[in-house]
Parts: sequence; structure tokens; C-alpha cells
Amino acid sequence: MSTVKSYHMTPGQFRQYGRAVVDWIADYYERIETLPVLSQVKPGEIRRALPPEPPRSGEALETMLRDIDEVILPGVTHWQSPNFFAYFPANASGPAILGDLLSSALGVQGMLWATSPACTELETHVLDWLVPMLGLPQKFLSTSTGGGVLQDTASSSSVCAMLAARERATNYASNRRGCDGRLVAYTSNQAHSSLEKAAMVAGIGMDNLRLVEVDERFAMRSDALARQIQHDRQSGLVPFFVSATVGTTSSNALDPLPAIGAICREEGLWFHVDAAMSGTAALCPEFRYIQDGVELADSYTFNPHKWMFTNFDCNCFFVANRKALIDTLSILPEYLRNTATESGAVFDYRDWHIPLGRRFRSLKLWFVIRYYGVEGLQYHIRQHVEMAQQFAEWVKRDDRFELAAPAPLNLVCFRHRGGDESNQRLMDRLNQSGDLYLTHTRLDDRFTLRFCVGQTNTTQRHVERAWKRIQEEAGRL
Ligand SMILES: Cc1ncc(COP(=O)(O)O)c(C=O)c1O
Repeated sequence: MSTVKSYHMTPGQFRQYGRAVVDWIADYYERIETLPVLSQVKPGEIRRALPPEPPRSGEALETMLRDIDEVILPGVTHWQSPNFFAYFPANASGPAILGDLLSSALGVQGMLWATSPACTELETHVLDWLVPMLGLPQKFLSTSTGGGVLQDTASSSSVCAMLAARERATNYASNRRGCDGRLVAYTSNQAHSSLEKAAMVAGIGMDNLRLVEVDERFAMRSDALARQIQHDRQSGLVPFFVSATVGTTSSNALDPLPAIGAICREEGLWFHVDAAMSGTAALCPEFRYIQDGVELADSYTFNPHKWMFTNFDCNCFFVANRKALIDTLSILPEYLRNTATESGAVFDYRDWHIPLGRRFRSLKLWFVIRYYGVEGLQYHIRQHVEMAQQFAEWVKRDDRFELAAPAPLNLVCFRHRGGDESNQRLMDRLNQSGDLYLTHTRLDDRFTLRFCVGQTNTTQRHVERAWKRIQEEAGRL
């Protein structure tokens, strides 16, 4: 009998190669500090190093791993380097990577409860854990009227919030007929660009998204919001949605949720809270003040894939009334019908977001929470905040620099007093050195450096060295 031909990797080979890959990963983490944080390649350089044609015959895994070292790594910016202080972090951790590996291995597509009950039920359970862990309101629990769901990004969950708000405001008519151009949404002029994208995608239109002015701390002015809403109503428009930010991307500003929430209640508007990065701080009771007022929210989003040691992608989206979300996004074609769905006793998470298919994302989050425990997570978040606060002190004490915004948590916005060009030069030189990576924004129309402490393995030594390098380069300006 002839043997069946196969090109597949056998479990035995997987065991062997899998060990090699895990070893590669562990080695990478051990040597990550020796690599330049920001990739130094020029556009097109990586593609030029790749063969123009795909291989006709399969290749050895050893060859592929060699190419990872020689071709790919030079083009990688090392987000997991402890010297990464740019943007907001996208941190990872051992338990998250292993949980993700298991998710890949199971290869589950969890669109329905029935297509893998554990995928749905673990997700519900972990999101319910997070409600008290973060001090969020009980209404976000699945045992209440609401519930949480994992999505890919905060951008996606903000679109879902806007869609649900749109349907609630139009009595579910815009899903059928489209929008009539009268709905108006509000956020601050410091909100993340994903809100603008949400207005585009949800058919609201960018012209119907009001970017409300901010105060001297870059937080939304609730009086300006109230005035704008009245003005729009008088113009015959229909205000329907407000998004407030807990920790804006530029400067970590904290919008006044109690005042904004009260306006939303009074005006009957959907109140969404975007805490993409800073939401993680609420793991520590002493930082929960940042989200005072969240009890008024209709929806809330935060990213464990930023600051909670869970590798990209992992966004948590909570709603106070899941019916509004499900009624907005649910479609049930014949081929998805099943008795569990029809019993009404299960969640089918495909109705809670835009895609149909979904990964077993909760595994990595579950691994992170179990491996660290609440106390481990709190410990590292506190450390990050403490190091950022120390950094802010050093900035204050050096006459050449100034703080550009309040630094409530782990982001420090600062600038050299020499003006925009000096700051740009300082940043470019530091980043080109490969020693650390930091990025910029504009505040008060001035070039501003951002230093965010949130990478999993950043310790005091890394922050001290970064400040020393900043001072050195400042001396050479
Ligand atoms: C406040 C805020 N909201 C939303 C986002 C978008 O996050 P995501 O990449 O998960 O869509 C960011 C990203 O930095 C952010 O800072």
C-alpha cells in the first residue's frame, strides 16, 4: 500500500520546531536591550532582502529562523524593549504569549456559543472578573443588563458604541434606511482620531462630529459641550452621542466624566468612555479617581493590549445595556441557526461586534490575570506610575526643560525650552542612537516630547539611563 503523500508538519516535527521557536523567543527577550529600539532601515530595504518569488519546494524551519534574525529583525522596532517609551505601549508578557499560542493551536472560530462554548463562556467570565478588578459599575456585568466583549481594538469598539447610539437615537431606523445627516456626535479636540474614523464609518460624517474645546489641562470643557448641544438642537440637528476620554493620547488628559455624564443623562445622549490606555491604572484603587463618573456611561472601552501585559490585539468593550448593542448588530442567516441560539440562554458574540469570525482571545487575558494575580498587576502598574512621576521631577529640576501638561499617571509631556527645532533635533538624535525611543505631539501648538513608561520590563535603571541620554543630547544642542 502506498503511503499518503503529505507536506504537513507532523506533531513530532512541531514539538521539535516549536521548542526551537520558544528558545528563539526566550533568547530574543534576553538580548533585546542590545538591539536598537527604533528600526534603522530605509524604506524598501526589507523587501529588497526578500526573494522575488515564493519557494517552489518547502524550506527548512532552521532557514526561516535564520531569516528572522538576518532579514526581519533589522526591520523591527522593538516594542518589547524596556527602552521603549514612545506612543502608548503595546506591551506583552510570557503568560500572554503562551495563552496566544494555545489560542492559535486550538484554532477555534468562536462566532457562536455553539461553535466553541468555552470560547464564549471564558470570555464572559474574564470580562466579568474585570468589572470589580477595575472598579467599574455593576451594570457592565453579564449578570446584569450589560456585559463585556473582547474586540480587536478600541477603534472597533468605539465604532460599535457609535452604531448602537445611532440606532437607539433613531429607533433602529438608520440600520434600514441609512442616516439622514442630522445626527451629531461630540468628543473633545484632544480625543483619539479613532472617533473621527468612527463618525466616517458609522455614516454620521466628519462634519457632524463636534470637536469640543478643552481647558488648560487639555480636558473637555463641559460648559462648551452643553452650549454646542443647545446650538445644534436650535439648528434642527439631533445630538445623539458623546465620547469622553480617560487619558488622551497626546497628553493623558482626563475629561470630567461626572459633568459630561450628567449632560448626557439630561439630554438623552449615549455616553461612551474611551480609556484605551489609562483604564488599566484603575486596577489600583488609588488611581480609580480617573474614572469617577463612569457609572453614568452607556459604554466603556480599554485596551489590555496597551498597558496590561496582554499582547496585541485585545480590547475590552463594556456596555450597560447589551440589548441595544445586539439589536444594532445582530443578523441571523439560516446557516447560523442552532438550538443554543434559539434557546436564548447563550451569548453569541458575533452580535456584539462587526466581524462574524472571532479568535479565542480571552485565553491570553485569562493567563495574564491568573499568572500575575491582581496583586502582581497592581505592583507593576504602580511601579510604572512611580517611575514616570520620578522622571517628571527630574524634568522639573532641569532649567533647560519644562513640563508641557499635567502628568497624572505614566505619561510625561515635556519640552526643551529651546523651541520646536531643538526638540525635534533632540528627539531625532535620541531615536537614531537606538538607545531609547520616544515620540512627540503638539500641545499649545508647540512641539512636545512624550515619554511613556509602560513597557513590561522597564525598570528604574532604564528610566534613569533614558534621562541621562536626554540630558547628554540636550547638552549637544
Ligand atoms: C485614547 C485612545 N483611544 C483609542 C486609541 C486607539 O486604540 P486602538 O489601536 O486599540 O484602536 C488610542 C491609541 O493610542 C488611544 O490612545
